[in-house]
Amino acid sequence: MTDFVEKWGRYADAHRQYRADYLAKAKGRRFTCGDELETLRRLGWAEIPVNPTTDLNALFTSELTGLVSGFFGSHFAVVFRGEMERGPEDRDESAFWHRDSGPFAHLRLLVPLVESDGGTAVVSLTEPVDYDPVTLNERRSNLEGLGEHTPWLVTPPVGEALIIQASRVLHRAVPPSKGVRKIFQVGLIPSLEPWQVFDRKHPLLRKNTNSFPEYEIDNAC
Ligand SMILES: [Fe+2]
Repeated sequence: MTDFVEKWGRYADAHRQYRADYLAKAKGRRFTCGDELETLRRLGWAEIPVNPTTDLNALFTSELTGLVSGFFGSHFAVVFRGEMERGPEDRDESAFWHRDSGPFAHLRLLVPLVESDGGTAVVSLTEPVDYDPVTLNERRSNLEGLGEHTPWLVTPPVGEALIIQASRVLHRAVPPSKGVRKIFQVGLIPSLEPWQVFDRKHPLLRKNTNSFPEYEIDNAC
């Protein structure tokens, strides 16, 4: 828990309790998939223990592989992967509330590589918000007045990660208050074959760093 969470006022206590409960449950074990899979399905996001690495073979332990394939009900493929670094002053469209472009059936995994108080603010699927910006100009920096909801500020330490249904869950990037936030992002989609096989067949996809390229061209309809 970092001081930065205090900035979230009334949400800070709830988030602190959530983190305490999570850490108590996670203590002394790697995750078992069941709880995390349920959370990922119900809320649309979960915090999970991971290896803080950009090596996909080291990242996809049997636990993480089980979680992702359990979510999709199939094998999965890596459709983008890349490192991202942000400082306190860095702002782009991802700093405003949005859902990612791309198919509903995709997951984004955000793996912190350095300690930072930056993170991702999310609104769980259980709290629908009447907000669906189509263009970048329509994105808002706050959701006040759009219904009852409780944004969570997810700030995983190194060794944990956020996994999120990014095209369904409202979220926005929160820059660090100091230093840099450096993460490794991985995009996952259902696949007929294990990710290693898919990866060998589609080497060009390794150039996708953080999105679905087709959707970047025309994201409107
Ligand atoms: Fe996003």
